[in-house]
Amino acid sequence: YGTGGVNERGHLEIGGVDTIELIEQFGTPLYVYDVELIRERARGFKRTFEELGVTAQVAYASKAFSSIAMIQLAEQEGLSLDVVSAGELYTAIKANFPTERIHFHGNNKSEEELHMALDYDIGCIVVDNFSELTLLEEICTNREQKVKILLRVTPGIEAHTHDYILTGQEDSKFGFDLINGQAEAALRQALHSEFLEVLGLHCHIGSQIFQTTGFLLAAQKIIGKLSDWHGSVGFQPQVLNLGGGFGIRYTQEDDPLPASQYVEEIVREVQNLIADSDLVMPEIWIEPGRSLVGDAGVTLYKVGSEKEVPNVRKYIAVDGGMSDNIRPALYEAKYDAILANRPLDPVEETVSIAGKCCESGDMLIWDLPLPKAGRGDVLAVFCTGAYGYSMSNNYNRIPRPAVVFAEKGEARLVIKRETYEDLIHLDLALHEAAVVNK
Ligand code: LLP
Repeated sequence: YGTGGVNERGHLEIGGVDTIELIEQFGTPLYVYDVELIRERARGFKRTFEELGVTAQVAYASKAFSSIAMIQLAEQEGLSLDVVSAGELYTAIKANFPTERIHFHGNNKSEEELHMALDYDIGCIVVDNFSELTLLEEICTNREQKVKILLRVTPGIEAHTHDYILTGQEDSKFGFDLINGQAEAALRQALHSEFLEVLGLHCHIGSQIFQTTGFLLAAQKIIGKLSDWHGSVGFQPQVLNLGGGFGIRYTQEDDPLPASQYVEEIVREVQNLIADSDLVMPEIWIEPGRSLVGDAGVTLYKVGSEKEVPNVRKYIAVDGGMSDNIRPALYEAKYDAILANRPLDPVEETVSIAGKCCESGDMLIWDLPLPKAGRGDVLAVFCTGAYGYSMSNNYNRIPRPAVVFAEKGEARLVIKRETYEDLIHLDLALHEAAVVNK
């Protein structure tokens, strides 16, 4: 039952809360998070670093799911925060997240975004390319303000995952190339600047990664270069940020490692490499998104229409789809699901779960074994906690679902359901729309 259990009424329960009661109160589709599980994941990462005796920061990659309550939860668990836009930064500020623990990412931060980061004096800016480096230097010089930075490097690693979520390979829009000399030139430029304090390097090799090989290779390449630069430039990094990307189990086909194992292997590799160099051990920072919140989220849908294609398949449609979970359409991502209102009923048939958007690609799950389901049943799709709400959209003018946090039998509405009024609140009718170019 994913993260949940079955209660005495025979319903799926998440965080001790009856999912059927939840949809009666809040409607469908509904995202429900098991808060205890997020806390456990966060504590697991932190504990592993503590046990290894390494100074670390675990930054929650808020792109996975950004909301005020979620960021407050990250703060309660002592995480740092990775933001990639003014919008994510604004959300963090509104959640009163300690700004010194915020790291700002992105391959095209605008001037406005850089000023905003400096206004709030955030922990560090992860500089992605030369034009940003020059721009930031200029802005900091004008403001006479110092800022801590990491340089994002591309170590030329091909992690085995979907092409669209690969990021560490050589031909990538992200980062300074580590191998061809760009990264060293960037370091020299940054060290030259009075206002930029270079903490160290950052890399992120991809997402939903099941092995440690890529991380270890990245560490080897980066520390190799750092060691060269220690000789040539005299640079001693304080921080090595190895990004996120730790995989989770969406279906039985997935075979991720326990989160602690990624960290352990990475840290041990870094310790060995550093021991063999002239460098001193830097702080290790990581940026998990999916592995903190992915399996803690479940989406509840009401089953509606069905359609049989004789001798081919049976489609069962739910009241959401690519508007609340675009991952199957975008990455052919696979999910598992059960009926939340009768999870113990035996499987009777194989069906394919369709969304309600006007798009043939709007399929959530192909070939799912289920009891015979019909209108009024409730489908619970597991592992939707990362890149679900955060990539949701209003295609077909479908309002975004609500989000509930469930913990120890208590449910809290943390994001309200979008209303039709919300959908049109930026629209101007023709008679209100003044001519603006005269
Ligand atoms: N740090 C950086 C610099 C990143 O670019 C990302 C993800 C993360 C950390 C967090 O990665 P995670 O631990 O969540 O794998 N929308 C895609 C995933 C895109 C990830 C982009 N960057 C999906 O739904 O699978």
